[in-house]
Amino acid sequence: MQGKPNVLLVGAGGVGTIVAYGIDYVSKSNLSIVVRRDYEKVKDAGYAIQSVDYGNIEGWKPQNIYPSVESAAVPGVTYDFIILTTKNLPDIVKLEELIEPVVTSEKTAIVLMQNGFDLGRPFIKKYPKNVIISGVSHIGSHNSNGVIHQTQKDKSLVSYFENPNLSQDVQESKTHEFITLYSNKCNNCSYFADAKWYRYRKLVYNATLNTVCALTGVDTGRLDLAGGLESVSIPAMKEVIAVATADGVELPKDVINSVVHSDDGDWFEPSMRVDVKKGNPIELEAILGNLLQVARELNVEAPVLNVLYNLLKVVQFRLKEGQGLITLPKERPISDKIYK
Ligand SMILES: *[C@@H]1O[C@H](CO)[C@@H](O)[C@H](O)[C@H]1NC(C)=O
Ligand SMILES: *[C@@H]1O[C@H](CO)[C@@H](O)[C@H](O)[C@H]1NC(C)=O
Ligand SMILES: *[C@@H]1O[C@H](CO)[C@@H](O)[C@H](O)[C@H]1NC(C)=O
Ligand SMILES: *[C@@H]1O[C@H](CO)[C@@H](O)[C@H](O)[C@H]1NC(C)=O
Repeated sequence: MQGKPNVLLVGAGGVGTIVAYGIDYVSKSNLSIVVRRDYEKVKDAGYAIQSVDYGNIEGWKPQNIYPSVESAAVPGVTYDFIILTTKNLPDIVKLEELIEPVVTSEKTAIVLMQNGFDLGRPFIKKYPKNVIISGVSHIGSHNSNGVIHQTQKDKSLVSYFENPNLSQDVQESKTHEFITLYSNKCNNCSYFADAKWYRYRKLVYNATLNTVCALTGVDTGRLDLAGGLESVSIPAMKEVIAVATADGVELPKDVINSVVHSDDGDWFEPSMRVDVKKGNPIELEAILGNLLQVARELNVEAPVLNVLYNLLKVVQFRLKEGQGLITLPKERPISDKIYK
């Protein structure tokens, strides 16, 4: 292990475990993972993995397992890469703060393998001298009762969130270094120059179908048959495209049509809808909040997206209360605000 880069992965659930296994498979790194909920179990028995890429594996463990980020901050150890594969819920946990104990300025590259848009911004602000890498992954993988089921092949596109204070060379070579540590003969991890374009392209779906299905409780097929696709989601897609255009990103001319038809034949339940159904908090800020922030900065009107966002904030409040993240007083507080 001497001289191998130190890699720390935070968030070893369905997706994170497959990413960690892929890195361990090439064994070019000294890999550590943070496992919070299942720490005791994983430390003793390791993971059981059923994977379309790697087959059936029993009892897999990386070199080092920690129950928290703090405990991974080992004196004298500098992490070359920190990979975040948790959900992105900045209204609950600010990840840039969570990882502070394990980040070394100018040295640690931070890899965000997460859904959402403009995720690099708070990291670049807090760590202006560190490279922030973007990974968009298409792994279909979930953790059910401690067994990781990977049902869809691991294909990921990796690039960086551009930091104007760092040279492109530095950012590009760190990104390629990460790809070298992660790529193996079973997965498909490649460099994709334009992170911003790709994340806008994903938003055409995720800001408009995920959100409306989450609010209405239907899948994308039922949304279409009920008329909501044409009356709400498509106008919202046009707003996403307008923000992209104002941001200098040109999406394909037929993007709406290809996004709508991407689920043809499936009664598909988008992830945000599934989260609401399970009572889990939704990635609202990462998907819609950050987009609307950019829309405001560029003076683009996005009335449909704004209403979706504000309604989903109420849903998020309910979900957080359900998870015990918000506790309300017994008696409703009386507001002295005057409404006109
Ligand atoms: C591997 O990383 C851990 C920190 O997670 C560290 O304690 C250990 O010394 C490292 N091993 C080597 C050989 O660098
Ligand atoms: C570069 O970094 C400095 C602080 O390190 C910051 O004040 C400045 O805004 C940054 N410039 C850009 C273009 O991000
Ligand atoms: C891997 O992904 C790239 C980019 O999407 C694609 O061009 C390539 O054909 C894929 N390779 C394999 C072996 O699937
Ligand atoms: C939308 O986001 C989900 C997770 O929230 C992600 O798994 C999926 O790939 C995205 N969908 C599209 C079409 O990009």
